[in-house]
Amino acid sequence: MGTNKVIVTGGLGYIGSHTAVELSEKFQVVIVDDLSNSSIEVLDGISKISNSTPIFEKLDLKIKKDVKKLFDKHNDAIGLIHFAAFKAVGESVEKPLNYYENNLSSLIYILQEIDNRNLLLNLIFSSSCTVYGQAESLPITEEESIKKAESPYGNTKQISEEILFDYARTNPKINITSLRYFNPIGAHHSTNIGELPLGIPGNLVPFITQTAAGIHEKLTVFGNDYNTPDGTCVRDYIHVMDLAKAHIIALEHLIQKRNQDNYSVYNIGTGKGSSVLEVIECFVKNTRVKLNYVIGKRRVGDIESAYADNTKAKEELKWTPKYSLDDAILSAWKWEKKVRNI
Ligand code: NAD
Ligand code: WQD
Repeated sequence: MGTNKVIVTGGLGYIGSHTAVELSEKFQVVIVDDLSNSSIEVLDGISKISNSTPIFEKLDLKIKKDVKKLFDKHNDAIGLIHFAAFKAVGESVEKPLNYYENNLSSLIYILQEIDNRNLLLNLIFSSSCTVYGQAESLPITEEESIKKAESPYGNTKQISEEILFDYARTNPKINITSLRYFNPIGAHHSTNIGELPLGIPGNLVPFITQTAAGIHEKLTVFGNDYNTPDGTCVRDYIHVMDLAKAHIIALEHLIQKRNQDNYSVYNIGTGKGSSVLEVIECFVKNTRVKLNYVIGKRRVGDIESAYADNTKAKEELKWTPKYSLDDAILSAWKWEKKVRNI
């Protein structure tokens, strides 16, 4: 008690690094990462922005001994944000066991350590709008029914939420919030950190910025025959710094015990849907850079439309996104140019 230490698992990853920057304004940050999908240079980027270097522990959370080591050293933490997970939907179909092993065992080991040590912890879990699949009604509220997951990755998020719900019922000392992110995009305005996809990106915005940077010949729009205004899929793209901020607000909400139950779920999205063609137009309008694209076939497993009803987060957490799609796309392009020396 008495410290302001917060553990950030997966803190060198895309969302974790941006959250670590925001957190470091108020908390002492301990980053845990095994570098399986990130690089140690990200720590320098975080340090440059925040004028302080977070504590870094290179540990693999799917190894029980490593999780024990973490809490041996940092059992005085008041909060933990659990970002660490594998997140590639397609890869999860190819290698389901790796996804179940990493995403579920890391969570279970963390909860076991908290339980064994009787720690009074506030925990935030990275969930995803993927838990909804194609929702019955739009915008999507937290009341939307959870259907069978489309991928092993999505299933790990559904199961993780169930694990957290069941565990919270047994331990009144723990306070847990799952944040269901919609589509995070963009980068910190300093361009010291951003999204660094390994290999060919599956996500739309990094594919756009890489194509504009000349890395790919063209972008393929996956289908224009959906039942949407322009026929292309609709998503809720949220600036990663708005998402980062949501974590700090949700954590403070838990620390100050302002939550009614010890397990809650919130949608974190802008509430606004944008189609693939609108995102492309937004990119071209803001950057004045030409983007070569063609209309192709639908991508298997794609959801037609998904955007958030974010009323619950706005009302209960008093969180409101402040960046527009233009801001987010411009920041993604600024970051791409920096990475490619353009
Ligand atoms: P990311 O891959 O950039 O970051 C995850 C980090 O966790 C990486 O640095 C990786 O090295 C680390 N990691 C993975 N397994 C680990 C382990 N066993 N031990 C220690 N570290 C480990 O991913 P991200 O986009 O920043 O996503 C963060 C979280 O948010 C994930 O849980 C993801 O499923 C969830 N999420 C992401 C999105 C998105 O579109 N990016 C959307 C919804 C939810
Ligand atoms: C957005 C839109 C594509 C690439 C994924 C995960 C989901 C969640 C968020 C973690 C879609 C279209 C894309 C391209 C395209 N992650 N597109 N050409 O599909 O909403 O979700 O990230 O939890 O689980 O599945 O995001 O960025 O892949 O695609 O036309 O080259 O762009 O069809 O409509 P998606 P995305």
